[in-house]
Amino acid sequence: MRTSFVAGNWKLNGNQASISALVANINAGLESLNQTTVAVCAPCVYVPLVHTLTQNSTLKLGAQNVSNYETGAYTGEVSAPMLKEFGCEYVIIGHSERRALFGESDEICAQKFVRAQQAGLTPIFCVGETLTEREANQTEAVISRQLQALLAIIDVQDLVNSVVAYEPIWAIGTGKTATPEQAQAVHAYIRQMIANLNKSVAEKLQILYGGSVKGSNAAKLFAMPDIDGGLIGGAALNADEFLTICRAGNKA
Ligand code: PGA
Repeated sequence: MRTSFVAGNWKLNGNQASISALVANINAGLESLNQTTVAVCAPCVYVPLVHTLTQNSTLKLGAQNVSNYETGAYTGEVSAPMLKEFGCEYVIIGHSERRALFGESDEICAQKFVRAQQAGLTPIFCVGETLTEREANQTEAVISRQLQALLAIIDVQDLVNSVVAYEPIWAIGTGKTATPEQAQAVHAYIRQMIANLNKSVAEKLQILYGGSVKGSNAAKLFAMPDIDGGLIGGAALNADEFLTICRAGNKA
C-alpha cells in the first residue's frame, strides 16, 4: 500500500514573520495526522528558519529548485549538498514555472534529479502539459517525453526514492482544477508507463496531483486510485486551507 503525501510549494512568497506564523499553525494542526506525510517547500533563504521551526514536528522540509551542478563557477546556484546540509529532505524539480520561465529543458531537469538523489534528497519531479497540448491530444506524448528524458539517465529503480507530480499547466494557479477523472487518467498512464519497465517500482511510486488543489476539492482527487496526494501552491500559504488538504490525504 502506498502512503499519501502532501507537499506545499510556497513559490516566491512569504517573509520571516509570515513563514514563522504559517509553520507554527501547520505544526499545531499536524499533531492529529499520522497517515500522511506532509512537507513544505520554502524559498531557499528561509530553509534554515523552517528547519529550526520543524525540529519538534513531523512536518518535512523541501526546496523548490536545485542546481544541476555540484560545485564550481556557477554564480547564483544552490547545490543539492547545500540544501541537504541545511535540513532539506525534498526538492521540487522541473516545475512548469522553471521549465517555461527559466528555460529548463527535459535534460536539465533529469540532471537535477540525479544531483538531488546523489545528495540524499528526494526529488519531487514535475510533469505536465499546456492547454494547447491537451487540446491537441498531446498530453500523453508530453508526459512520456518528460519522463523518458529522466529514464534515459537513471535506473527505473531510482524512482522508488522519488515522487512524481502531475501538474497540468492549465490548472496551476488558475483556479481551474483537473477533474478527478482527468487527473486519474494521466496518473494511471504514468504508472502504466513505469510498470512496463518494472511493476514493483510502479506500485510503490507516489504520484501527486498539482494544480488548484483546495480544501474543497482535495478529498475527491485523493480518493482516485492512482492519486497519492498533492503538490499545493496557493492553498499552501493558508494554514487552515493547507491542513484541510492534509486531512483529505490522511483519509484517502
Ligand atoms: P496551485 O499551484 O496550487 O496554486 O495551482 C500548484 C503548483 O504550482 O505546484
